[in-house]
Amino acid sequence: MTAKLKFGILGAGRIGCVHADTLAFRVPEAEIAAVADIHREAAQALADRCGIGRVSASTTEIFADPGIDAVLICTSTDTHAELIAQAARAGKHIFCEKPVALSLKKIDASLEAVKHAGVQLQVGFNRRFDSNFVRVRQAVAGGEIGNPYLIHIVSRDPAPPPISYLGPSGGLFLDMMIHDFDMARFLLGDEVEEVYAAGGVLVDPAIGEAGDLDTAVVTLHFSSGAIGTIDNSRKATFGYDQRVEILGSKGKIASENRYPNQVVVSGEKSVYTDLPLNFFMQRYIEAFAAELQAFVEAIREGKPVPVTGEDSRISAVMALAAGKSFREHRPVRLKEISA
Ligand SMILES: NC(=O)c1ccc[n+]([C@@H]2O[C@H](COP(=O)([O-])OP(=O)(O)OC[C@H]3O[C@@H](n4cnc5c(N)ncnc54)[C@H](O)[C@@H]3O)[C@@H](O)[C@H]2O)c1
Repeated sequence: MTAKLKFGILGAGRIGCVHADTLAFRVPEAEIAAVADIHREAAQALADRCGIGRVSASTTEIFADPGIDAVLICTSTDTHAELIAQAARAGKHIFCEKPVALSLKKIDASLEAVKHAGVQLQVGFNRRFDSNFVRVRQAVAGGEIGNPYLIHIVSRDPAPPPISYLGPSGGLFLDMMIHDFDMARFLLGDEVEEVYAAGGVLVDPAIGEAGDLDTAVVTLHFSSGAIGTIDNSRKATFGYDQRVEILGSKGKIASENRYPNQVVVSGEKSVYTDLPLNFFMQRYIEAFAAELQAFVEAIREGKPVPVTGEDSRISAVMALAAGKSFREHRPVRLKEISA
């Protein structure tokens, strides 16, 4: 394909704006033809900023436009499955934010719709494209640290999202830890067989009243025998805390937080740096660009996308197993989770 890949963006919220900026200003092979959001003003503001020609309050116009090749689904999680089905029926390639849906039944229906339509679906596991995590994966795959024994993933947000975001999000395991479940299998190149979850509400009682958790630790048992932990918190006062360490038979590899600068101030009483990059919009800006570049390249060149619907299904199974483990106070094997 020599022409630019024409996109319709669905949802002009936090992540819709990040992706629109990437497509508009950093991916020359892409063009944004239209944006839709049920809050038309949000779509209009994004269109004004990114020079998008068409704005609507409904996604229908985007699906009906034969000039649009692909859609970027950036709406609230509980709308993804229906929008994937509509996009697939309209023959559009799909980039969908995580998670694909909140139940396995809906995820399977989405994947079936995509398969039936013969379109491609890439899911927004942007961390796979972060240069630190790419290097960690390379070290494991290349045997630099030998056989992995342990993986520790720390993933903490600077502050919780609005309470209104939580309901449709599916809760901490499906909304937030799903990134870390995907990281665990991506970095080790291994599948998890069993999880055991502990969780609590320590940051904000309103999160508990909304039926969610704000703090959790999950242990992972991989098929190779390796063991892992993921720790999530909705609040780290110093900023976005995104670290990984893997111990193997020949050594360890660790990835630290990213900072806006590399300055170290040394004084009479302490040595300090500025705070880490504050949230995903800053920390993963390069990873977001790389994932969309990869999507555009795959579609234009007719290659498979690098993160598939099946990847999204497996991480959702892990999240559902973690939820079951937390509720039932016991280790849960992934095999126990079915549609
Ligand atoms: N990959 C990441 O790091 C990352 C980061 C943030 C959010 N996300 C995911 O992106 C999705 C959106 O999250 P967000 O933080 O941008 O939320 P948000 O609430 O900021 O934005 C969602 C937008 O979608 C619009 N919307 C909702 N239903 C719609 C519909 N049916 N049609 C058109 N527009 C609709 C809302 O009006 C809103 O503007 C979620 O699924 C979330 O899990 C991923």
